[in-house]
Amino acid sequence: MKFERSDLLGLEDLTREEIESILTTAGSFVEISERPIKKVPVMRGLTVVNLFFEPSTRTRTSFELAEKRLSADTVSIAASTSSAVKGETLKDTAKNIEAMGIDMLVVRHSASGAPHFLAKALDCPVINAGDGAHEHPTQALLDLFTARQKVGRLDGLRVGIVGDILHSRVARSNIWGFTRLGAKVVVCGPPTLIPPGIESIGVTVSYDLNEVIPTLDILMVLRIQTERLTQCFFPSLREYSEFFGVDRKKMSRAKKDVIVMHPGPLNRGVEITPEIADGPNSVILDQVKYGLAVRMAVLYLLSGGELTSEDSH
Ligand code: CP
Repeated sequence: MKFERSDLLGLEDLTREEIESILTTAGSFVEISERPIKKVPVMRGLTVVNLFFEPSTRTRTSFELAEKRLSADTVSIAASTSSAVKGETLKDTAKNIEAMGIDMLVVRHSASGAPHFLAKALDCPVINAGDGAHEHPTQALLDLFTARQKVGRLDGLRVGIVGDILHSRVARSNIWGFTRLGAKVVVCGPPTLIPPGIESIGVTVSYDLNEVIPTLDILMVLRIQTERLTQCFFPSLREYSEFFGVDRKKMSRAKKDVIVMHPGPLNRGVEITPEIADGPNSVILDQVKYGLAVRMAVLYLLSGGELTSEDSH
């Protein structure tokens, strides 16, 4: 069976079955990265361009490696060294790249909706690698995959997403993903960093991390998105850390087997202390590891690959 979508733009409009089928397919890609020769020929002859208008370490490297491990030809373009700095529009940039005969475009942009705009303008599949404060679908898919690997299930779990919810595309995509797969999500942070009315998308809100932490099976910590702050949202980083930074004292109230997630990059000592980020409950590097398998699955499915069924495991 094929994946019935031509692009991956967000999790908001994906069904539970579609998300689960991507995660199941990702499961069949994990072992490729454990082989001595980390390569399969499923995208041989296809060309993928990664077009990044914002900085990235994990997502861009992960997509590039995923493409290479699937044997695709791959080119990565940073907007800062492209003709975008000479005034070329996003659409012109993408149309010119497409004219070179590419088969897929991965795009990160600071403007919410940029990948959706390109998906309409281009004939090839488009993957959203993060658009403004809107969505980061492959990050949420890899978070769901990691949580399922570590805990064994998602249905009925209580997930706390802590930090700058207002500016976080990771929070948004994870809310759609976790709630759709049956988890209960609570968002926690200073009132100024929680979007008003967010309860309408099926989450609960708390402003007290000490109260929330003992109830959680999964604690997802987010950094303050300083690049998107347009005003002062809290008095100081020190005060933010005191109330919302995850440290040993707050973690002493948590369940012993809670898993701690963070999409990266970390601001150590602000939203999380090093001893928690590197501690026994942390699955932060597992998220990065599984991200590769998840992105391989997304690339493979959008290039016309067959979905892996549960029966094949
Ligand atoms: N999680 C994430 O998107 O990290 P990068 O910004 O390094 O890609």
